[in-house]
Amino acid sequence: MSYREKFRNADQALTFNDVILLPGWTIVEPSEADVKSLAAKGIELNVPFVSSPMDTVTEDEMAIALARQGGLGVIHRNCSIEAEAEMARRVKRAEALIIRDVVTVGPETTVEDLLRLMDERNIHGFPVVEEGNRLVGIVTSRDVRLADPTLRVRDVMTREVVTAREETTLEEAKRILHRHRIEKLPIVDDGGYVRGLITMRDINLKGAYPSAVRDEQGRLVCAAAISPFDLPRARALDEYVDVLVTDVAHFHNRNCFEATKEILKEVSAKVVVGNIGTYEAAEDCLTKLDGVAGLRVGIGSGSICTTSVVTRAGSPTLYAVAQTADAVRDYGADVPIMADGGIRNPGDIAVALAVGASCAMMGNVFAGCSESPGTLVAIEGRYYKEYYGMGSAAARKKRYAQDRYSKPAKTINEGVEGWVPYRGGVADIVAEFVGGLKAAMGYAGAKAIPEMWEKAKLALVTERGSQELTAHDIMLPGSKRGT
Ligand code: XMP
Repeated sequence: MSYREKFRNADQALTFNDVILLPGWTIVEPSEADVKSLAAKGIELNVPFVSSPMDTVTEDEMAIALARQGGLGVIHRNCSIEAEAEMARRVKRAEALIIRDVVTVGPETTVEDLLRLMDERNIHGFPVVEEGNRLVGIVTSRDVRLADPTLRVRDVMTREVVTAREETTLEEAKRILHRHRIEKLPIVDDGGYVRGLITMRDINLKGAYPSAVRDEQGRLVCAAAISPFDLPRARALDEYVDVLVTDVAHFHNRNCFEATKEILKEVSAKVVVGNIGTYEAAEDCLTKLDGVAGLRVGIGSGSICTTSVVTRAGSPTLYAVAQTADAVRDYGADVPIMADGGIRNPGDIAVALAVGASCAMMGNVFAGCSESPGTLVAIEGRYYKEYYGMGSAAARKKRYAQDRYSKPAKTINEGVEGWVPYRGGVADIVAEFVGGLKAAMGYAGAKAIPEMWEKAKLALVTERGSQELTAHDIMLPGSKRGT
């Protein structure tokens, strides 16, 4: 190919601002649109939103809040394996019909140690067990409220414990808890060994979050990020999470592929791979990686990304999704696509869905929520939260996620640091985005997300057109002049 042909054959790598969603013939009222979708094969979400694995976005608090609203949080990996696994464990323990990983104490534990454990784990009642996990009592905060700290659990515990069996249904459990006016119901087997725990709190929470995404044991669905090169981390997280998401800027790389093959062989969680940005990368993921459950797509569009500034390499999210979706369709692969990077509003999600995405991963949008890890700061009378790229100097200082980017020189950062406006709670953001997305689906005439893939049409807009499509010729509050 001549060099001139390189230009003639070049694709247009379009992104969100380059397109609009064309209003189509519709019989769908926005309120009827169904926004359920998949984050990965077999992982159904009630809202198609996923929070980025970044240490200013997703820790356990965000993952719990988003799963309760019907989305999915991907816990970041910029911390030790133990710290990431502990966050995943907390998400899994946040709600369950039957808690499996029950925290117990022995009869010889002192009241002082018990109080410390209550504080550390934020748990207020424990089954008391002897060796081999055999139930001998139950102790709750009420039993120790004013107790001498040197006493032992055996001195204060309740010995007549009301228990239930594995087969107990939710309704039966409610009746038992009510009849005995108790909060905790240990599940025991024939030998009296503890197999689980049902709590009043979990039952109440189930009613409080009707859109929550739960696994078959009633626990919140949880995802976590891994490096393809960190098999021990993948193994440790596999004990807790439903989904593992590889977290590298350029996954279409022989070493990443070889390492991911090992992970795919070992783990039982669904594995989403990425980031990728081309048809060929998707084709290779689908044909060379047996068992891939999802594709994380988009390179360089993130609001904190400077990858393309530094390297001129990238695949804007909208373009990347279209490339990947064609490969998925050509190979008849039933693998959901996660559009990642650059999404600011529900309209961006709508156009990503229009070219084949199943869900949208967002960092910037969720970084501004009260449930994200950063602190709230006031700047000139407005509130903001800290947000930085995982390739920024701030993130790289922690060193755990260094292999997300190539490292030709220590001084090259592929991300920036800053603040995003504080947006309030995740529940409000999700409600706002669901409203906007349903309205967009109404315009496109799509009743459900798979209909967006087929029915939604796009048109290109020029830069000036795109300006016209935002508010203009009006003085907005907070701006110096009309835009
Ligand atoms: P938004 O636009 O939602 O994008 O803030 C979040 C996504 O950006 C990616 N990411 C980075 N990309 N340099 C990059 O080039 C970085 O430092 C960086 N940190 C995160 C990531 O895919 C995330 O989901």
